[in-house]
Amino acid sequence: VWLLLTLSAAAYLMGSISSAILTCRALGYPDPRTQGSSNPGATNVLRIAGKPAAALTLLGDVLKGVIPVLVARQLELGNTGAALVGLAAFFGHLYPVFFEFRGGKGVATAFGLLFVLDWRLGLVTGAAWLLVFLLTRISSLAALLAFIAMPVAAWWLIPDALAPLVLLSAVLLLRHQSNIRKLLAREELGFRAPRDH
Ligand code: G3P
Repeated sequence: VWLLLTLSAAAYLMGSISSAILTCRALGYPDPRTQGSSNPGATNVLRIAGKPAAALTLLGDVLKGVIPVLVARQLELGNTGAALVGLAAFFGHLYPVFFEFRGGKGVATAFGLLFVLDWRLGLVTGAAWLLVFLLTRISSLAALLAFIAMPVAAWWLIPDALAPLVLLSAVLLLRHQSNIRKLLAREELGFRAPRDH
């Protein structure tokens, strides 16, 4: 249990490193929490700072989910333990201790942890995201539908990690409330939305 707690604390701290904010700061752009959708995530960094910065942000946020779960796997913490460590990194992204606990929506970090937890689950969830994105070009809608599907796939593929993964999806969907409101009002910012909205 101590190992799980220690690793979860380390995962939370790693998750707290907001690659969106750091990338924008390093490249001389404003804090992504003040522009576009105000979300410190790859989608919003694309709007504010363009593709290279968004790619860097995406990589950083995915790695925040990958690394802790890789370590958990190496330490043979089992599926539940590895999922809990991934969940800690996810919460770090959402509520980063280094950035006034005002973080992102967790999509990229979630994908990172899913792929390491069970590559089939990552693939299924990623395919759902991609399908919806190709059809709608709306990142948030793709995330919403993919993470509604994810627990169903998790129940089938990795049932002993179902509880943490249901919690992850529930929180991720809740973090998209502003997107849901805008989607229903047909005002959602697409991928190519203007840079300052
Ligand atoms: O990664 C978050 C994405 O699902 C929505 O981003 O900026 O459109 O709220 P955004």
